[in-house]
Amino acid sequence: MAVGKGATVQEFFASVGKNRLEIEVAPWGEGRLKFNGKQIARIDDTKDRRQAFRELKKIAQHCLKERAVNPQSERSGTMIPAVKAKLLEGKRGLIVGIANENSIAWGCAKAFRALGAELAVTYLNDKAKKYVEPLAKELEAPILMPLDVNAPGQMEAVFERIAKDWGELDFVVHSIAFSPKEALQGRVTDVTREGFLTTMDVSCWTFIRMAHLAEPLMKKGGTLFTMSYYGSQMVVKNYNIMGVAKAALECAVRYVAAELGPKGIRVHAISPGPLATRAASGIPEFDELLDKAKEQAPTRSLVSIDDVGVATAFLAHDAARLITGETLYIDGGYHIID
Ligand SMILES: NC(=O)c1ccc[n+]([C@@H]2O[C@H](COP(=O)([O-])OP(=O)(O)OC[C@H]3O[C@@H](n4cnc5c(N)ncnc54)[C@H](O)[C@@H]3O)[C@@H](O)[C@H]2O)c1
Repeated sequence: MAVGKGATVQEFFASVGKNRLEIEVAPWGEGRLKFNGKQIARIDDTKDRRQAFRELKKIAQHCLKERAVNPQSERSGTMIPAVKAKLLEGKRGLIVGIANENSIAWGCAKAFRALGAELAVTYLNDKAKKYVEPLAKELEAPILMPLDVNAPGQMEAVFERIAKDWGELDFVVHSIAFSPKEALQGRVTDVTREGFLTTMDVSCWTFIRMAHLAEPLMKKGGTLFTMSYYGSQMVVKNYNIMGVAKAALECAVRYVAAELGPKGIRVHAISPGPLATRAASGIPEFDELLDKAKEQAPTRSLVSIDDVGVATAFLAHDAARLITGETLYIDGGYHIID
């Protein structure tokens, strides 16, 4: 149904089952799609109203199909944003660390995909697969594989598959960390050898290993990313042994950057402000950390996984070719405040 015919912007409504879809299109080719009242897509680069309508209708049909496949999912804000300039088109990358829609790795994956990159995605195990698979579908990821870094051979298998299917790789996002509860929640002074080794192994060594496996595939250069946190530099209450592991991780970033730089491979740690993710739920009094970040960051705001995603994607672009070995804070400037 067209509302306000002759008016500048035309609106169309459709009800499908319990869902309500709304499309608004303007004569100059701009339009938006709402799903149950929430805007999920916007375009501004079509030639006219008709083309805008056709494009948005396609997105609406895709969205309905997704929900039919996975009716439980009433996800919001998980659509890949429509971005005009596909700045990473032609690039292919591996994303490790999506557990669910709150994961930092998911924020990165959305940004990379929106900018045109093709993605390979991993999930921890069968239990995690049911959360990650629908997200991988949204990303149209041609490679989806299990990866538990503790399972011998799984990491090698992922890189072998990439070598076989793609023959090369442009970026890797390593967004995983783990520390046993007793190690994470106890004093650094008391950490056991086992707790220390597990924390360092999963949270630091696996990044070094991924760099090793990615190197031969990055024939034309590439970018390696890992996720760190400010607790690597300062004593942050309750961050404990993970701070030690992140300090080692940031140091590894610098050494690997120096070693692989001559091959055009750049290496970065991304250091986001606190985000309420599954991993963060293991840190006691995490809400206080969030409150403090919001109160004291120069921007007076918390970061989102999308903020982290776009900044990371920028560093993968050729425009950032002379930036390497960096720890980039995406924290509203919190780290500069005393
Ligand atoms: N949430 C924050 O406040 C915050 C801030 C700065 C940095 N980080 C870092 O960001 C990264 C991602 O964490 P997140 O906050 O998105 O939480 P998350 O729980 O969504 O992601 C953590 C990921 O680590 C994976 N993982 C754990 N053990 C693994 C193993 N053995 N093999 C393979 N994967 C394994 C999990 O499956 C999960 O996908 C971590 O390195 C974390 O330390 C988080």
